[in-house]
Amino acid sequence: MATQADGPPRPDPDDLLRRGTSDHYEDAELYDFEYRDHRHDIAWYRNQARRIAATLTTSGLGTGSIATGGIDILELGAGTGRVAIPLAEDGHRVTAIDRMPSMLELLAAKIVDHRAGARVEPVLGDICAMPLPAARFDLVIAPFNVLMHLYRWQDLLACFREVARVLRPGGSFALDVLLPDIEWLTWDPVERHSVTYFTHPVTGASLVYSTNHTYDPSTQVCHVRIYYDDAPKRPRAFKPPPEPRRIVHLAHRQIFPEELRLLIASAGLELESHTGNFRSGALGPGVDAQSAIARKPR
Ligand SMILES: C[S@@+](CC[C@H](N)C(=O)[O-])C[C@H]1O[C@@H](n2cnc3c(N)ncnc32)[C@H](O)[C@@H]1O
Repeated sequence: MATQADGPPRPDPDDLLRRGTSDHYEDAELYDFEYRDHRHDIAWYRNQARRIAATLTTSGLGTGSIATGGIDILELGAGTGRVAIPLAEDGHRVTAIDRMPSMLELLAAKIVDHRAGARVEPVLGDICAMPLPAARFDLVIAPFNVLMHLYRWQDLLACFREVARVLRPGGSFALDVLLPDIEWLTWDPVERHSVTYFTHPVTGASLVYSTNHTYDPSTQVCHVRIYYDDAPKRPRAFKPPPEPRRIVHLAHRQIFPEELRLLIASAGLELESHTGNFRSGALGPGVDAQSAIARKPR
């Protein structure tokens, strides 16, 4: 029997991981609102697709969709279509796989009357075992840290092998994940950061967003807590209430650069580039995101 000396109950690690990959994606409208200004990566993925389409056209290796100027793209963890829809607008055919019905429902609502909507195919599924045929895509993309939701190395390896399976020979895999920052990961886990006042895009509630996080160096998982508290009635400095209105758990497994290169090689893919912040520069101080391109040999 638990006694007071045992302290508060410790969260179940499996439950934290389960919530860490779903909590943040249950309110899809709020997700879109929070990342409405996150656009710098979209240009990079559009450029990759354009480059591959041009290569396939000049080499004469193009598939049916090349005739329309587009290629066949699979987006892993496509969510609400932040990246998938611009790619479809460029003429590409995009298969958008995600495991969260809430995210795919919003994607479906966005494409129903969209001029490029017919080129987006939402698929409910897990990126570690995809219900998709082999050698089907010219390009697979994994934008905005989706791979950081694969918490065990076995899941990561399964996903990379799935990518190799569904790529056509000569096809490319473009991805981005955060560059682990040990200084940030080990911040005080209690202090609140990124305090932001906002109005919920659907309910109209006045809320305050804030976060803190705890890093587990053994599993390499960073457990981020996103707090949504009622905004104070009168303007004053935010003081976290004892009981938050809602806590969203977001778990991100850190992927170190050498691990990423090992996963690529282990899946039989060849690394083409591995740079920082969607530019050509090396990974190093000041870099938040690592972006990599790998290719399936012909
Ligand atoms: C950060 S969001 C990225 C969404 C979209 N790619 C974007 O850039 O806005 C991560 C997405 O990956 C999805 N996801 C996480 N783990 C997954 C898995 N194992 N299989 C399929 N989708 C997954 C989540 O449901 C979520 O929609």
